[in-house]
Amino acid sequence: MAKLLILYDSHSGNTEKMAEAVAEGARSVPNVEVELKYYAGPDELAEAAAIVFGSPTYYHDMTLPIKQMLEEAGKANVQLKGKVAAVFGSYGWSGEAPGLILEILKNRFGMDTITPGLGALYMPNQAKLEECRKLGKAVAEKVATMG
Ligand SMILES: Cc1cc2nc3c(=O)[nH]c(=O)nc-3n(C[C@H](O)[C@H](O)[C@H](O)COP(=O)(O)O)c2cc1C
Repeated sequence: MAKLLILYDSHSGNTEKMAEAVAEGARSVPNVEVELKYYAGPDELAEAAAIVFGSPTYYHDMTLPIKQMLEEAGKANVQLKGKVAAVFGSYGWSGEAPGLILEILKNRFGMDTITPGLGALYMPNQAKLEECRKLGKAVAEKVATMG
């Protein structure tokens, strides 16, 4: 069964709400194993058919745990080429994190990125949570037919 990883960081819970909604949408699709957590090492990333990253924007950047996870994957030279990727995150004003992550996933790892990233201004409202569910569902549907 294809595995979909949702990896996120959240300091005050806003990106976490988005992550839970992405997972809910993804879990509505049969034949996909969905895992929602903070961290996955290179081997686990390599096993996934799709990876969705969630990071809030702090100081115009993604948060450190997300950056470290990507750096670790880069150092391990993990092969993610062609795997499906999407990104989301809460922000307050500038919201750079999802775009920065997407760029790395596309240009460093050659992933098949769903663009643009999905942002929520502070706490996601019901409409935004529905967008998150749709994103999770769309990613899961892309990989549901993969072994
Ligand atoms: C110290 C600090 C720095 C922040 N820097 C930015 C920033 O550079 N750009 C931005 O859009 N939002 C910024 N924010 C706002 C957060 O992205 C926003 O509060 C977001 O909802 C946090 O998501 P979380 O609950 O998942 O941690 C900052 C917030 C704090 C407390």
